[in-house]
Amino acid sequence: MTKSPYQDDRGNKDRSITNTGGGTLTAAKNAARDSVAQTGEPFLIGDAMTGGYGKGPDILHACTIAAEKGEIAVIVGPNGAGKSTAMKAVFGMLNVNEGAVRLDGEDITHLSPQQRVVKGMGFVPQTSNIFTSMTVEENLEMGAFIRRDDFKDTMTQVYDLFPILKDKRNQPAGELSGGQRQQVAVGRALMTQPKVLMLDEPTAGVSPIVMDELFDRIIEVARTGIPILMVEQNARQALEIADKAYVLVQGRNAHTGTGKELLADEQVRRSFLGG
Ligand SMILES: Nc1ncnc2c1ncn2[C@@H]1O[C@H](COP(=O)(O)OP(=O)(O)O)[C@@H](O)[C@H]1O
Ligand SMILES: [Mg+2]
Repeated sequence: MTKSPYQDDRGNKDRSITNTGGGTLTAAKNAARDSVAQTGEPFLIGDAMTGGYGKGPDILHACTIAAEKGEIAVIVGPNGAGKSTAMKAVFGMLNVNEGAVRLDGEDITHLSPQQRVVKGMGFVPQTSNIFTSMTVEENLEMGAFIRRDDFKDTMTQVYDLFPILKDKRNQPAGELSGGQRQQVAVGRALMTQPKVLMLDEPTAGVSPIVMDELFDRIIEVARTGIPILMVEQNARQALEIADKAYVLVQGRNAHTGTGKELLADEQVRRSFLGG
């Protein structure tokens, strides 16, 4: 068996999902592997972002979140800490008064969300992330909206990653279970062949078993070379699979480290992990 550069000491030890042989999501893999190397900074970074909604007060205060190639970065923190706001800032959905967003070394702070998608950002927002009245397959087709080329192969790859979606491809997405809907949302984002994937609470409202399955699939995507920036409310489980982790409190970086470091940190344990 070939050794994957992404087979590392991540908390999830289920090697059976490590399918490194296939050409899964290969275009994104190659794209994500090339440049940034020169700059030495993360592939995607929201750097010292300060800003809020419209003319309202600042929600983020010099907040930094980032994702490296081949890695999973996780953002945790209490409700209302600004996790979703930070994700929206990185995606260009709110004004960043200070700080910058860079993708693969390029300053994209002033690009629209649409332009960021074209640059290679895939974003799955926390709410309203699928079209419930459309079929599963139509949702995936909508995901490919920016593409002019043939996206059939990518759809096959998404169906390989989430086989249940193939079975249900002609059903309205609104009829699916919570976990299956999240698969549709992630699959839709993958249809653009993103260079980086941003997920806001992909396991919200699903059972622990379904959560584990979703995490396994997310690890699988990361191992194809697509960096993942993910907000999670299941802090302990998320830190277990995180290469890099950020705890946000009141719009500020409170703790940053590897998932392991934060799991071992006395203060993080007491404040955010229930001891
Ligand atoms: N669309 C919005 N307009 C104005 N304020 C908002 C909006 N969305 C969130 N907020 C405020 O921003 C703060 C952070 O919210 P949010 O980023 O959703 O937190 P989290 O995702 O960490 O739970 C909260 O005080 C919330 O009320
Ligand atoms: Mg949120």
